[in-house]
Order: sequence, then structure tokens, then C-alpha cells
Amino acid sequence: MSSATNIHPIFHRILQRSDKQHLLKQTARVIWLTGLSGSGKSTIAEGLEKKLHENNFLTQILDGDNIRAGINSNLGFSEVDRLENIRRIAEVSKLFLNCSVITINSFVSPTNDVRKLAKEIIGENDFIEIFINCPLEICEQRDVKGLYAKARKGEIKDFTGITAPFEAPVAPSLEIKSNELTIEESVEKIFSFILPLITKN
Ligand code: ADX
Repeated sequence: MSSATNIHPIFHRILQRSDKQHLLKQTARVIWLTGLSGSGKSTIAEGLEKKLHENNFLTQILDGDNIRAGINSNLGFSEVDRLENIRRIAEVSKLFLNCSVITINSFVSPTNDVRKLAKEIIGENDFIEIFINCPLEICEQRDVKGLYAKARKGEIKDFTGITAPFEAPVAPSLEIKSNELTIEESVEKIFSFILPLITKN
């Protein structure tokens, strides 16, 4: 239940998103990358931000590891905490949307429920879901952060793909098979897909 009683939002009195879109000459969207740990989300997000910047788009990356070190440092990886993690991130993304800034969100966001919540908060029109699809075996072989090995040894509980579920998105806006493409190809594919959606008309 919401505890927001005695609260009087003033959204209707503050400058609107359209005013800021005009200033920045872009249409903000939330580019939501979902996928297993080690699937390449963060690297693709960095490449995409660089590409967008070169093309004069103003962006902000929101990344699992960074957000969990700061605003969400009190959250773990239980189902409830992951839902709260994604809820706060979606609310933060909405603030950026209202400033007309494009966010590139890189979160495991492992279940249909958490992604549904994000989509509801952000709004269907602005939520671009991109599935960074890399087989678990390959993420585990790479094990860039050494987390899969720890999870297999039982040193991390509720680890996505090992002891916690990852539900592949049913109908993502775009799917990137990151093990079959180079980083540059993945970035290029996402960039061409989103370009018409972020270009101010
Ligand atoms: S989410 O599931 O709530 O969306 P989020 O993207 O914020 O996860 O954080 C995932 C990152 O936290 C992973 O890339 C990994 O580095 C780290 N991590 C630590 N513990 C876990 C775990 N139990 N499950 C998944 N990722 C974990």
C-alpha cells in the first residue's frame, strides 16, 4: 500500500517535458537492456552512449553495479529487493525522461514481473526493451567478474541463471544475440533501431 498521504504533487505546475525536448532537440526514451550477468549489457551501453553522444544526443547511463553502489545500496537480490531496485530505477528514469534526457538502462531485470513494473512506471511509449541474449554457458565461460564460479560454489545465493531465474522477454522491442555479433555491430543495430524514436519531429 502506498504511504503517500498528505502529499500534494506539483507536476502540473512545473515545466513540461515538451519544453525541454524543444531545448535539447531530441525525444527522450528509456533504452532498457535486459540480460544475464556477463551478456554484454554494460559494454554495449557504453558503446551506445558514445555513439549517441557523437550524434549530438544527450544521454545518461544507469547501470546495475553503479546504482547498487549508491541509491540502491540497501538492496540485495531477493525477489522483493529486485522489484524495489527496478521500481526506483524506473522512477529515476522518469525524471530523466521529463528532462528530455535519453537513459540507457543496463539491468539484469530478470523476470517478466520486474520488466512489467518498469514499463508501467515509465510508460509503454517510452520504454524500449532490448534483450541482450547470450547463452548462459557462454556468460559462465567468460565469467568476467568471477561471480558464476562463486555462485556455483554456493558463495553467492540467488544468482541469476544459477540459483535464481532469468525469464527471457516474450516480445522485446529488439533482440541482440551478443555472442554472434561484435560490440560495434550490436551498438550499430540498436542505434539504427532507436534513431527514429529519439529524433525530434
Ligand atoms: S537486478 O536483477 O536487480 O536487475 P542488477 O542489474 O541491479 O540486478 O544487478 C546485477 C549485477 O549485480 C550483476 O551484473 C552482478 O555483477 C551483480 N550481482 C551480485 N549478486 C548477484 C546476484 N545474486 N544475481 C545477479 N547479479 C548479482
